[in-house]
Amino acid sequence: MHHFDYRDNRLHAEDVDIAALANKIGTPFYIYSEATFRRHVKVFSNAFSGTDALVAYSVKANSNLAVLRILASEGTGADVVSAGELARALHAGIPADKIVFSGVGKTTEEMEAALNAGIYQFNVESAPELEALDKVAGELKKHAPVAIRVNPDVAAGGHDKISTGRKEDKFGVAWGSARALYARARELENIEVKGVDLHIGSQIADLAPFEAAFKKAAGLIADLREDGCRIERLDLGGGLGIPYGAGEIPPHPDDYAQLIKRVTAPLDVQLIFEPGRMIAGNAGLLVTKLVYVKEGEARKFMIVDAGMNDLIRPALYDAHHDIIPVTRDLDAKNDRYDVVGPVCESSDFIAKARTLPDMKPGEFMAIMSAGAYGASQSSQYNSRPLIPEILVNGDEYAIIRRRPTFDEMTALERYPEWMG
Ligand code: LLP
Repeated sequence: MHHFDYRDNRLHAEDVDIAALANKIGTPFYIYSEATFRRHVKVFSNAFSGTDALVAYSVKANSNLAVLRILASEGTGADVVSAGELARALHAGIPADKIVFSGVGKTTEEMEAALNAGIYQFNVESAPELEALDKVAGELKKHAPVAIRVNPDVAAGGHDKISTGRKEDKFGVAWGSARALYARARELENIEVKGVDLHIGSQIADLAPFEAAFKKAAGLIADLREDGCRIERLDLGGGLGIPYGAGEIPPHPDDYAQLIKRVTAPLDVQLIFEPGRMIAGNAGLLVTKLVYVKEGEARKFMIVDAGMNDLIRPALYDAHHDIIPVTRDLDAKNDRYDVVGPVCESSDFIAKARTLPDMKPGEFMAIMSAGAYGASQSSQYNSRPLIPEILVNGDEYAIIRRRPTFDEMTALERYPEWMG
């Protein structure tokens, strides 16, 4: 559930009238609801109340500092995948001892930063990474707390490009070599083995793949303990899907929690979760303006002022986002449109062959469920400046990232001296 609703046919973010805001600050922009972030965190955390669980929000979903600060104030930790995300999480007030570091390509510099910060856990994804981490920790005279991310070879996720737990995927340590790598980890002086980690994909719409993977992980923990390994933690990653459109009913966090409690209860481990989309996805939307309506020979196009550089999910994953008018006319006729952006690529679309109410240029529309992997995956392609992010809290709003000026957009660029 989120806090974006019509009042008198005008879409509101909590108590803020979106059309009035759009007229004031200009489009396109992302708008987030603080109450929705808080609600989602509570729903997720409450599902696991009574269990020893750390919710480490996956920063990549939406990494705005103000968003991270909301989550910090709810007591969540963070799942980071780069030194940049680590710095953001710390800056926003997420304590280091609630931060886990995932990713297949951690550099020695990133390991140093994370060890110096004193993070809770490194999710190690390969044998060479384990050796490198041992070396870096040794040089810093520290011990690195480690879970090894295993690849359970389970297919899951809303799209081929966001499935991560099959043996063809680059993620995690091959199932067959996991025990040997744990044995190696125990030999390394600067590594402290803490747990097992997995993450099988994103936008997962049913519980079956979770169950298959988590049962395998439980079996591995039993094997590792037989080998004499102390396993105190099980990091189950993220991946719980959200509804993007009518008719999509992903598992409720309570059902997900029940399954997990059933599978993990005998293990006596701390559970770690890395939800991203479930927290941020429906807490934000992208507001854009209709610029032109164009009748092509085969299609009708609504050309809007947000492009694939602002929201790349449709282009990259054929993702569906509901589109609704910001000011609703209940008598409007419907037609079928491709909603496209201004970027010079045929893949620059928001929706294809979508039935939408007729609208006039200058009117605003909201692209729903854009709070996760929206702003965080945006770019300045076509030299389109990053768009503002707005946070709403009741009837207040704040610009939590402003639109850069041309000078700021090009601030890192230089003409070489030989050009005079
Ligand atoms: N943990 C790890 C190790 C991950 O790689 C991810 C997401 C998460 C947690 C969070 O997953 P979530 O709960 O958000 O599903 N850009 C794509 C999604 C890529 C997900 C990458 N990893 C999209 O827009 O659909």
